[in-house]
Amino acid sequence: MKKRVSIAGATGYSGGELTALLFKHPSAEIVGVFSSASGKETPFGRLHPSLRKSQGPPVLPLSAEAVLGASPDAVFLATPNEVSAEIAPVLLEAGVTVIDLAGSFRLRDAAAYPGWYGFAHPAPALLGQAVYGLTEWCGEELRGARLVANPGCYPTSVLLALKPLRPFLDLSLPLVCDSKSGVSGAGKKSDLAFSFTELAGNFKAYGVSGHRHEPEMRQELGVPADAPFSFVPHLLPVARGILSTMHVTFARAVTGAEVSALFDASYSSAPFVSVLPEGSLPELADVVQTPRAAIGFVLKGGGRRAVVVSVIDNLLKGAASQAVQNFNRVFSFDEKEGLS
Ligand SMILES: NC(=O)c1ccc[n+]([C@@H]2O[C@H](COP(=O)([O-])OP(=O)(O)OC[C@H]3O[C@@H](n4cnc5c(N)ncnc54)[C@H](OP(=O)(O)O)[C@@H]3O)[C@@H](O)[C@H]2O)c1
Repeated sequence: MKKRVSIAGATGYSGGELTALLFKHPSAEIVGVFSSASGKETPFGRLHPSLRKSQGPPVLPLSAEAVLGASPDAVFLATPNEVSAEIAPVLLEAGVTVIDLAGSFRLRDAAAYPGWYGFAHPAPALLGQAVYGLTEWCGEELRGARLVANPGCYPTSVLLALKPLRPFLDLSLPLVCDSKSGVSGAGKKSDLAFSFTELAGNFKAYGVSGHRHEPEMRQELGVPADAPFSFVPHLLPVARGILSTMHVTFARAVTGAEVSALFDASYSSAPFVSVLPEGSLPELADVVQTPRAAIGFVLKGGGRRAVVVSVIDNLLKGAASQAVQNFNRVFSFDEKEGLS
């Protein structure tokens, strides 16, 4: 039987992708689409280019009452962090499954929210209940989960590449994650810094002194607070895609076959993660507009170090398609349903 689903933030970049994926999902029926009050004039067919000739529910201003009025089984929150943090507890209380694309339930430590997210968490008790939905690293905990914290886009690219290598890493030496994202990673904000004139032909680092995705990566990789971990995001003058370059040191010299075996053990049956042979590196064009991630590596220093490169589409594997993978696993559908 189809699950009734709603999308909050459907007029945004991630929400538009989600709406398009869920519209063609054989086991989902879209029963509600929501935006801020200012987005309510958007016709359903304008939420994504693939929906131009499609009919769906009207875009309504987001409120818990309006969402619950459509009796959804699951609600996807592609809204700002504070909005997700406020509405999720009300939806959960009403028995609805919540898949949150914001960062509101990703960090387990409530005390981290004021510093990294700029607000005191309104529902700290839920942080311990949320399943961190890096799908390939989830087991049975996703099945029937009530609250899924979909990972951030940068963390998805970094964690998919580094989690398999974790047993080999020497965390007493610097671990550098240098990530470059297309501009859609910032959402559809109108801000001079994100205008065409400022970005075209340009390339820059930002958030170097601290970015909110860093504590998420440290938490999920198990990197101690005092370990020398450095994450530097950059803004690429392309619409979408993330390429992360990671410089890692191993506790002993390793061979390419050992590294490949670690990746194989993690992803040989993962439908959306490809690992390239040693020495081959993936590019943005391999994954943009797809739900896939691709990873490659080159050994350095006689096998004591490696450069690992990982690519995803920030709006798909970094947001909407990973949310659909999680939806599929929560409701025991095939993980690939609606995505292949
Ligand atoms: N962009 C990415 O690559 C990416 C990747 C992973 C996760 N995320 C996360 O996903 C969420 C959405 O990101 P996005 O980039 O898709 O954002 P976006 O393009 O800026 O869209 C934001 C959406 O939220 C709605 N919204 C804004 N304020 C609201 C309010 N007060 N009440 C109700 N709805 C409100 C907007 O409606 P209006 O159209 O009416 O303004 C719009 O539909 C964010 O939490 C973001 O951190 C984004």
